[in-house]
Amino acid sequence: MIDIRSDTVTRPTPGMRRAMAEALVGDDVFEGDPTVQKLETRVAELFGKEAALFVPSGTMGNQVCLHTWGAPGNEVILDYESHIACYEVGTAAAFSGLQLQMIECPNAVMSAARVAEAIRVDDIHCPQTRIVCLENTHNRGGGVVVPLEQMREVAEVAHRRGLVVHLDGARIWNAVATSGASLAEYAAVADSLMCCLSKGLGAPIGSLIVGTREFIRRARRTRKMFGGGMRQVGILAAAGLYALEHHLPRLADDHLKARAFADCVRHIDGLRLVPDPPPTNIIVMDLAGTGKQVGDVLIALREAGILMVPFGATRLRAVAHLDVTADEMVRAAQILSDIIEG
Ligand SMILES: Cc1ncc(COP(=O)(O)O)c(C=O)c1O
Repeated sequence: MIDIRSDTVTRPTPGMRRAMAEALVGDDVFEGDPTVQKLETRVAELFGKEAALFVPSGTMGNQVCLHTWGAPGNEVILDYESHIACYEVGTAAAFSGLQLQMIECPNAVMSAARVAEAIRVDDIHCPQTRIVCLENTHNRGGGVVVPLEQMREVAEVAHRRGLVVHLDGARIWNAVATSGASLAEYAAVADSLMCCLSKGLGAPIGSLIVGTREFIRRARRTRKMFGGGMRQVGILAAAGLYALEHHLPRLADDHLKARAFADCVRHIDGLRLVPDPPPTNIIVMDLAGTGKQVGDVLIALREAGILMVPFGATRLRAVAHLDVTADEMVRAAQILSDIIEG
């Protein structure tokens, strides 16, 4: 099988497994796991923030941040195509009583003017707007790298109006590999940031949130409330440290593989890449103009040994990652081409 459903499907490499087996561990709920502490210190330094907190998943990381910042009845401004709005099971409402104000962000880029318009006035009838969420790279946007300047403009408006900014940086590493801006420059825009180790970096589990020491102290309590306090979790933090050292420098390879794939499918009659070319490792294809149904294409792909995912009524997503070669990406693209045009 060529599994290009997501960059989360990677398996730990032998080197990563060795690092996990040899990790020093302790009880992290008692703040006694040296490997977790090493990872948290390293990640806080990378982002130029005071502190970091290891959490089991990106979803928990985002939701711990929202809960820590907001109070029930507060409002969150975010892209209606964001991961938090689309794929986090309504948790902000269910666990934190937060109301989401989803705004349109053309080409996955949030505009400061639109945010300014969306912030509520101070009126007893209105919810209090508290948080603005950004996402970079943007998953449903097709791996789009949101320009730093636009993020700064949004943050400037939010901060001027007394709001906080949260950045869903599940794939912020891919943004850095493409844009040349640093992790610290992206993090400087946000009051809290979540990053994932279990996507392009190839770790089996784990995300971190970063922020001020005081914010992370409060977030640690929220993490416990959400059931995310973990014990001898240094075995997972070791995978994260290994990933930062060995897999962070190779992310640009995944972007090249995504481009090689795109070069083989661009010619398919009626198929549209969103965007074209793919800016990072995510390839989104709109099949509306091909006359084919996404469900039928996915079944035919599976029968031919290729796994992709549906991404809306007329769209498919493929993602390049550590465990797939450039040749396999090209083979998958050729098979897709045969299925649609054959
Ligand atoms: C942009 C973005 N944010 C958050 C997440 C959530 O991460 P997890 O699957 O670890 O909960 C994902 C997962 O794909 C994502 O793409």
